[in-house]
Amino acid sequence: MSTFAAGSRGKMNNAFNPQTADSLDARTRDLVERRQRLLGPAYRLFYARPLEVVRGEGTLLFDRDGCDYLDAYNNVVPIGHSHPAVAEAIARQASTLVTNTRYLHGAILEYAEDLLASFGGRIAHAGNLMFTCTGSEANDLATRIAKHHTGRDGIIVTSEAYHGNSDLTASYSPSLGDHSPLGAWVRRVPAPDSYRMSPQGLSAWWAERVAEQIADLERHGNGLAAFIADSLFASDGIYAHPTDLLGSVAEVVHRAGGLFIADEVQSGFARSGERFWGFQRHGVDPDIVTMGKPMGNGFPVAAAAMVPEVVARFGRDTRYFNTFGGNTLALAAAEATLRIICDSDLLGNADRVGATIRDGLTALADRYEIIGDIRGAGLYVGAEIVTDRASRTPDSRTAAALVNGLRERRVLISATGFSGNTLKIRPPLVFSGLDAARLLDALENTLAETVNQ
Ligand SMILES: Cc1ncc(COP(=O)(O)O)c(C=O)c1O
Repeated sequence: MSTFAAGSRGKMNNAFNPQTADSLDARTRDLVERRQRLLGPAYRLFYARPLEVVRGEGTLLFDRDGCDYLDAYNNVVPIGHSHPAVAEAIARQASTLVTNTRYLHGAILEYAEDLLASFGGRIAHAGNLMFTCTGSEANDLATRIAKHHTGRDGIIVTSEAYHGNSDLTASYSPSLGDHSPLGAWVRRVPAPDSYRMSPQGLSAWWAERVAEQIADLERHGNGLAAFIADSLFASDGIYAHPTDLLGSVAEVVHRAGGLFIADEVQSGFARSGERFWGFQRHGVDPDIVTMGKPMGNGFPVAAAAMVPEVVARFGRDTRYFNTFGGNTLALAAAEATLRIICDSDLLGNADRVGATIRDGLTALADRYEIIGDIRGAGLYVGAEIVTDRASRTPDSRTAAALVNGLRERRVLISATGFSGNTLKIRPPLVFSGLDAARLLDALENTLAETVNQ
């Protein structure tokens, strides 16, 4: 029997269904129809009633009528929507100099010095930083480097992983669905489901699953190039604990001569509230770290950091250039964002406000049996919705109803995991205690309405 269920994988549980367009108001329907016609069929919109927003400020988004929506979802703007410091830094740089990495410029070096120091371990000691525009490109580059360094092509990911939209990264992103084929050189391990398996022993059990897949890659191919994971397992359903998982896996991977790639696109830049990087919660010393999303507060800037040994042969045998990756404009946005994340102690804020949200959810779970499990770290919070606590059966229909009910109350979240039944709360890092109170209040009202129906 396959360990991995087939069926609903790849479907976005809270996506708008175009077949219901007739129920929308005239303007929304017109926008939706034009989008379909102009952008084609592959894009998805959030919510049963898609939202048109025209402005953002801090943790709020605004519609055309000036109504505010509390943004408890967008991690791409860690320091808040439309932050003036980033806007000014980009404007200043755009009117001074926009060039690429083939010219000498101090800003990229100063940023690299600051960021590399934050990783600790071998990367802080003597690491290299390579810039891209997106997380997909960062993972694509990391994979090419890992394959070149090891001379092998096997990649191991978690069962619902998402690592990007390029041909290479989509080939090891099972969450794209059963119709998006995985590479023959890709192997999966189950998500570390701490709700259905006891946290004691999970780490050893999981490391064994990785070892099995390494053996399979050695039997059927040329072996392991890299294991890659997001340490918060966001697309798998958000599993922040236990934190001894990745350490044992890194040992198994290194013993097999493979590289450990920490995909920090979701969990990096203070998101977890405990450590600046998600992998640091697991005490691992990765060979390559990839990052993106929050790095430029909305400006497309991403990167891969690595220990120098793994990129040595790649640098000798080939070369790297990315027209926009690491250009002066990207660096202006990245520098301003990093400075504010650190100077405003957004790590501490993520820790405090994340705890407030989880405490509020725990109180709601006392009254609502359908909240089966509350997980997360810092401002990455998951609440798993189930039919009942005895069977722990995922209830994706109620999860979607809650996401949409919150949207009607002008609070924006999403859902994740194989069944799309885990509420995903992942706001800008400047989310305040008052914001948390508004979120919890709206959720309480939505639960009362949804569950009593
Ligand atoms: C863990 C992870 N890795 C990589 C990516 C790809 O990043 P991007 O959309 O910037 O290409 C994503 C995007 O959601 C992600 O969640």
